[in-house]
Amino acid sequence: MRYDFDKIINRADTNCVKYDLRKQVFGNPDVLPMWVADMDFETPDFVREAVIKRAEHPVYGYHFKDEAYFQSIAGWLKRRHNWEVKQEWMSFTPGVVCGFTMAVMAFTEPGDEIIIQPPVYPPFHHAVSSHGRKLVYNTLVDRGEGYEINFDQLAEQAKTAKMLILCNPHNPVGRCWTRNELLLLGEICLKNNVLVISDEIHCDLVLPGYKHTPFATLGHQYAMNSITFHAASKTFNLAGLATSTAIIPNESLRKTYVAYVEDMEAHLGNIFGKVSTQVAMEKGDEWLAQLLDYVQGNIDYVSDFLTNNLPKVNFHKPQATYMMWLDFNGYGFSEEELWQKMTLEANLGFNRGKDFGEAGSGFFRINLACPRATVEEAMRRLKAVFD
Ligand SMILES: Cc1ncc(COP(=O)(O)O)c(C=O)c1O
Repeated sequence: MRYDFDKIINRADTNCVKYDLRKQVFGNPDVLPMWVADMDFETPDFVREAVIKRAEHPVYGYHFKDEAYFQSIAGWLKRRHNWEVKQEWMSFTPGVVCGFTMAVMAFTEPGDEIIIQPPVYPPFHHAVSSHGRKLVYNTLVDRGEGYEINFDQLAEQAKTAKMLILCNPHNPVGRCWTRNELLLLGEICLKNNVLVISDEIHCDLVLPGYKHTPFATLGHQYAMNSITFHAASKTFNLAGLATSTAIIPNESLRKTYVAYVEDMEAHLGNIFGKVSTQVAMEKGDEWLAQLLDYVQGNIDYVSDFLTNNLPKVNFHKPQATYMMWLDFNGYGFSEEELWQKMTLEANLGFNRGKDFGEAGSGFFRINLACPRATVEEAMRRLKAVFD
C-alpha cells in the first residue's frame, strides 16, 4: 500500500497547539505553522483503527500495560536497533519530557550540576533550571562540517556534574551521534560518575544512510549508567496520547525511578496511548519506511531551494529528525529583527532559535513533517522576504 503524505489535512479548530495557538505564540494567526514537533500527516490507518476499535467499547476505565504491550516495544527495539531489552527494564512514563524531569528530581538534589548540549530542545533547559538544579552548557560546536561535541570541555565539566541529558539523535541540529562519539561521551560520564539520561524519542526518525546507536548498547557499564526514554509518539504522530517508556537496565536506578514515578502518581497513563503504541510497534515498519522517504524528499527540496535561492542561509542536512536548523545570521539582522521579519512579513511560523539556548540566536527550526505543497509555500514566502 502507498500512503498519501501529500494529503492536506485541516487541523485548525482541533485544539491543536501547532495551528490553534498561532496568535499567542507568533502574534500572527496566519503564519504557516512549521514549528511544534508533530506531523501534519495522518496518524497511520492501522493505529487509528485500533484506537477506534477500543473506543467503541463503552467503558474507559483504568487499565494496565500487559506483557504484549512491553513485548511490542522490545520487539521493535530489537528489530530496528538490534537492542535486546528485557521486559523488566521497561516502565511506562506519561511523556519523555515528564520522564527526564522526574529523573532529574529522583537522582539529583537542588544545586547539583546537570550538563546539557545546546542548542537543544527547550525542555532540557527547563527540567534543570525550574527545579533549582544548575545548568552546565556543553555547547555543540560547528566547525563547518556539522555539529560536534566539545569533548575537552565535557571532560572538565563532568568532574563536578551529577547528570548529563543527552539528545540522541539530537534535536534541533539533526545529528545522529556515531557509536564512537557516544563511547567518548559515555566514558567521560562513567569515569566521573555522571548519570546519562538518553532521550531517544527521535531514534526511529533516523534518515536513510544513517544508523541510530542506542546509548545502552555501547556496553554493559554504559547500560548500567544510563536511563533511556523511548516513545512511538514522534514517529507515528501520537504526541497527544502522552505515552512513552523508560528503559533502565540497572536495577537499583530502576527501583528509584519507578518509586518516584509512583509517588507522583504518574504511572497509569491512558488506554489509547497503550493501544496506539502497541499497534505502532507491531505494525509500523512499512509506514515508517515510506514516511522517512517522504521526509527526506522534503529535506532535499529545502536544501536545493536554499542553496539555489537563498545562499546566505547556512545549514547542514539533518541525519535524523524531520527538522532543519537554519542559520540566518548571514543577513546581518538582529535576532529581534529576524523574528519580526519571519513572523510578520514572511508569515512563517518557525521555532525561534534562541529558545534552544543562546547558541541558537539568529537560527530557526523548521518542521518538515508536512505535505510537499506546504514546504513549497514556505520556501516561496521565505524567498519573497529574504531574497
Ligand atoms: C528531544 C525531545 N524530547 C522529548 C520531546 C517530547 O516528548 P513528550 O511529548 O513525550 O514529552 C520532544 C518533542 O519535540 C523532543 O524533541
